[in-house]
Amino acid sequence: MTGRTLVIAIDGPAASGKSSTAQWVAGQLGIHHVDSGALYRALTAVALEQQPDMTQWNAADVLAGGARITLVPGDRTFIPLIDGARDDERLRGSGVTAGVSAIARMQQAREWVNAQVRVAAREHAVVVDGRDIGTVVFPDATLKVFLVADPWERARRRLQQRLARSPADDEIAEETELLVRRDAADQTQTVQARDAILLDTTYITQADQVARIVALTRAALERTAEPLEH
Ligand code: CDP
Repeated sequence: MTGRTLVIAIDGPAASGKSSTAQWVAGQLGIHHVDSGALYRALTAVALEQQPDMTQWNAADVLAGGARITLVPGDRTFIPLIDGARDDERLRGSGVTAGVSAIARMQQAREWVNAQVRVAAREHAVVVDGRDIGTVVFPDATLKVFLVADPWERARRRLQQRLARSPADDEIAEETELLVRRDAADQTQTVQARDAILLDTTYITQADQVARIVALTRAALERTAEPLEH
């Protein structure tokens, strides 16, 4: 492989559509997607299994649990396996969602996740989504995008995806409250890079936001004269 491998960093708050957008962009460009949040979720799922009482978690035990996790390239997205098995439902469950911010605040957990992501990007051109990809993990990424949307709209989209129907206002209100609380818990690690392009998706469709990111990638590649390497 010649030249530097393409890295597109997509950061933003909870449920801003990072993962689904990153996956779609990866599909359009024929490259891979790495969801760094899924690695924090996998660490959390293992920690919960080993110690259901979150107040007892410590970084050493959490890190030891990482030995049970492997990140493998799937069709388009890298998948974190626990003891060799895939379990997306477990990773997206409410128990893991409630505990993940506590683990994401552990510096050793962050270094473990960052190392996994960097290994994946060494072998493949990637779109990586998370909170600190453009600042900490890949400060020299080819393109950095920071996705935002109104909390109510983020909550509505997340529920629509989870329930596969239009959610009622009281359901959206409850989800908004949870999201905003998680945003607060994640505040220190959610950082917009100075050279990131802010994309507010409140009033645009997902197809439009994907098209914009693909166009921005092509412009960035022209600027840096990098070939699109797979
Ligand atoms: O999809 P959603 O935005 O709800 O969450 P996620 O991307 O699956 O991330 C789950 C959690 O992992 C977040 O709430 C953060 O606590 C943490 N995280 C992080 O700290 N840094 C990242 N680069 C990615 C996720």
